[in-house]
Amino acid sequence: MTIFACVNTKGGVGKTTTAVHLAAMLAASHPTLLIDGDPQASAASWAAWRRENADFKSSPTTTCLVGKAIVSEGRQLSAGFAHTVVDAGGRDSAGLRSALLLAQEAIVPVGASNLDAAAMTDLLTVVDMAKDYNPDLRVRVLLTRLDPRTKDVIDMLVFLKEQSLAIFDTTICERVAYRRAIGEGATVHEVGKDRAAIAEIEAFLKEATA
Ligand SMILES: Nc1ncnc2c1ncn2[C@@H]1O[C@H](COP(=O)(O)OP(=O)(O)OP(=O)(O)O)[C@@H](O)[C@H]1O
Ligand SMILES: [Mg+2]
Repeated sequence: MTIFACVNTKGGVGKTTTAVHLAAMLAASHPTLLIDGDPQASAASWAAWRRENADFKSSPTTTCLVGKAIVSEGRQLSAGFAHTVVDAGGRDSAGLRSALLLAQEAIVPVGASNLDAAAMTDLLTVVDMAKDYNPDLRVRVLLTRLDPRTKDVIDMLVFLKEQSLAIFDTTICERVAYRRAIGEGATVHEVGKDRAAIAEIEAFLKEATA
């Protein structure tokens, strides 16, 4: 049983996109719980749209929890599933801290820009605190929304290595397929059939579950 949490104090980095893809891919083979821990409820909206489309076969069981309930109720609920994925809200909040207490695997989606790097300081403080209570927490950074035409990713990798952060080998590019998928309650496998998107998200799944 593995509990993943997609976390970052910065907004719009791809937490929900990563969480729903991970949960849907895991649900294809094992009972999976998706906890929407963001009061904006984007993952819950995705799940509601997904329920409306009978073609989308495997779905995670989705629930919304806020604040400390993510760790208290989340612990009980996750015991009934092979895997759990928490989509934590952006901002340093009780919900984010609770997600980091519940999780075994923290996945930190980040873009490759100076703003993303600057915003990481906040998150690293919260992660350090969480590790006092959850010493086995594994933290890995996932570079997302990358523009392959720029060299920004090289600078970001240097920064992340300076922070001694573990980084996924897989990177996620900015692709229309992701935006479309989320808006339709789907994954990139189910809309548009962008092969590059499917390949990278499957490589991410393999690494996340390794
Ligand atoms: N790889 C990608 N390619 C293209 N668009 C993306 C990608 N990842 C995310 N997006 C789009 O960027 C926006 C923000 O993504 P997402 O909602 O996953 O981020 P978030 O970190 O959960 O944001 P929030 O902090 O608001 O919860 C959405 O419109 C989403 O469709
Ligand atoms: Mg989100």
